[in-house]
Amino acid sequence: MLNKLRPEINIILSSTDLSVDDRLQNICSLLQETITHYDWVGFYFRNGDKEELKLGPYAGEPTDHTIIPFGKGICGQVAMSNQNFVVPDVKAQDNYIACSITVKAEIVVPLFLNGENIGQIDIDSNTPDPFTEEDEQFLEFVNKEVANIII
Ligand code: SME
Repeated sequence: MLNKLRPEINIILSSTDLSVDDRLQNICSLLQETITHYDWVGFYFRNGDKEELKLGPYAGEPTDHTIIPFGKGICGQVAMSNQNFVVPDVKAQDNYIACSITVKAEIVVPLFLNGENIGQIDIDSNTPDPFTEEDEQFLEFVNKEVANIII
């Protein structure tokens, strides 16, 4: 049950003794370690005024894709569409950037600050077609709470 993690998310985010990046790192680790179908969890944020995303805190295997131009891959498309993107089968996507051959599915949910799309949370799964409406709602919750500490 994803919703059981909500209080823990709030506790991590309210740890003001830690930097924002350290708190986001702890969120990534919590989700990656406790949710079996979350194998890679990371935040991307808009890189200044550039039309590109830059990788922030993440948990899972290191990725080469630390910079993603707007429009490229699932992440780059979400930077422009402002919509959740659920990919049940990454092989069926033309505009997809592969990070690992073990990944079967992906979900990307945009993160809004004062109505502006400033980044996203990106989850890779080694399980085929694992994401439901519950994941979308949970990740929207996470991003709203994160926006509250970014100010
Ligand atoms: N698969 C993503 C790239 C980021 S990695 O999954 C960490 C995409 O297509 O945008």
